[in-house]
Amino acid sequence: MQKINQTAANERMLQEVLAGLINPQKLISSKYFYDKRGSQLFEEICSLDEYYLTDAELQIMEENIREITEYLGPGIELIELGSGSSTKTRLLLDHLSDISAYIPIDISGDFLSETTDRLRADYPELNVRPVVADYTRQVNLPLQPGGNKRVIYFPGSTIGNFDPEEAKAFLDRLSKLLGENDGLLIGVDLIKDREILHNAYNDSKGVTAEFNKNLLVRLNRELDADFDPDQFRHLAFFNDEESRIEMHLESLKDQVIRIGGREILFRRGETIHTENSCKYSLESFTRLVSDHYSVQKVWTDQEDLFSVQYLEFLTFPG
Ligand code: AVI
Repeated sequence: MQKINQTAANERMLQEVLAGLINPQKLISSKYFYDKRGSQLFEEICSLDEYYLTDAELQIMEENIREITEYLGPGIELIELGSGSSTKTRLLLDHLSDISAYIPIDISGDFLSETTDRLRADYPELNVRPVVADYTRQVNLPLQPGGNKRVIYFPGSTIGNFDPEEAKAFLDRLSKLLGENDGLLIGVDLIKDREILHNAYNDSKGVTAEFNKNLLVRLNRELDADFDPDQFRHLAFFNDEESRIEMHLESLKDQVIRIGGREILFRRGETIHTENSCKYSLESFTRLVSDHYSVQKVWTDQEDLFSVQYLEFLTFPG
């Protein structure tokens, strides 16, 4: 399995986290949620009734799998970003014919190797080539030159965790991996009733709160910080103007945190902004991608909570 250099990754994480913590609005990238525990907690979130995204996306995939695989075509190289446990992917793997390779990419090496072992056991014929990588940065993919059509699979509305400008830049970078007729199958969460949105990120079992606070546990372990997670509170709300759910960790008192040889002061009520989860209309998403992709087909669930979209790479940006 391709690996990333752990020491360099740790140093980069420290520098990124410190830069975020000295910002007037403290912030830490949501990509750091996903250590082993964070990935498990995210899986748990996905099984909550309140977190409608997973069921809605699965319903869309199940109801339209034939048409979806027709759009993708036979013999493709399927590249999955942030594959996690690859549950949704199994549906594709079961229905795609003649798939030439499956390349799951995930930042969590432990999780990825478990997933890969399970996939190899269940699909002995499948050419699985896992890559441990932070796909938000430059990724060197073990792609076979020429030949097969490439489809990038980016489910779960993870695109929503980028701000629109970042999402554009990210899609631009992704398009460099694609050629004529290649495509992107992407899950995009839609704007909806505020209460449904609020409950999805403030679940009654407190799993999302634990997921958010696990970030502090991770910083303590990996960056030798001394956060007391009990002195922070999970906050999640819909920001109408930006059309996004924001997650924060709010300090419950004035306190000083030590991290990477620095001392960071927190005032009571001050927050670390830990995640944005942008929600789109079908029109606003089409506008977002229009520099590099044309939307070929959109599938939604019965309640229009979520969408799965097949985009084709535009060789001549319009
Ligand atoms: C991974 N991502 C799409 C999730 C989301 O809904 O933005 C992460 C998440 N955060 C809180 N709950 C789930």
